Amino acid sequence: MDIVQKLIKKEEERQQNTIGLIASENFASKAVRNAVKSVFMHKYSEGYPHARYYEGNEVVDELEDLCRQEILKLFNLSNDEWHVNVQPLSGSIANLAVYNSILEPGDTILSMFLPDGGHLSHGWSYGNQESFSEDFKNLSESIYLGGNRKVSFVSKIYNVIQYKTNPKTFLFDYDEIEKIALKVKPKLIITGGTAYPRNIDYERISEIAKKVGALYHADCAP
Ligand SMILES: Cc1ncc(COP(=O)(O)O)c(C=O)c1O
Repeated sequence: MDIVQKLIKKEEERQQNTIGLIASENFASKAVRNAVKSVFMHKYSEGYPHARYYEGNEVVDELEDLCRQEILKLFNLSNDEWHVNVQPLSGSIANLAVYNSILEPGDTILSMFLPDGGHLSHGWSYGNQESFSEDFKNLSESIYLGGNRKVSFVSKIYNVIQYKTNPKTFLFDYDEIEKIALKVKPKLIITGGTAYPRNIDYERISEIAKKVGALYHADCAP
């Protein structure tokens, strides 16, 4: 057996015999795995259906149209009012698509502090931090202004400020998040708990966003 096939088999056995608790991972069905490893995987198809940058996309267009229709049906949404984009290969790329559609470089994002459960694609930087100005002194336990080492591309492009959990309860304190939002006036507020095992109060964050004139991106899997 070819070495790559051997390793695929080995990984198959590992997955069968262990329980992975990474919430954002998934077990795709055999039908999905077969589709992903089909001849579609080596076809270029930049652009959108019926408006591509490469030739030979008539069958890809049929497939992408079908996927869009199926998603609309799944969520009981009408074609006239809703648009579906089925192109992102992963959550991180979907997040970049959201930012690119609503933000300009340098805009302020307010997202969850990475060590308290946020995700790299919501921005991350560490290293030397600017000391808190008087303006932020009373929020110093709940706000992270970022460091000089921009680990995530998102922190290089946007001004990412993060909200932390309460150090005693390890929960997000929505009153504190509201105070931060009022102070930093973000253009976008993000929630999305990669490693935050509690419920997120989406309605409360949505109210905060409305109050400060921000957009709200709930990065969640239904
Ligand atoms: C909240 C959240 N957003 C985005 C991602 C990134 O998803 P992907 O690994 O599919 O790019 C994750 C992955 O853990 C996540 O938990």
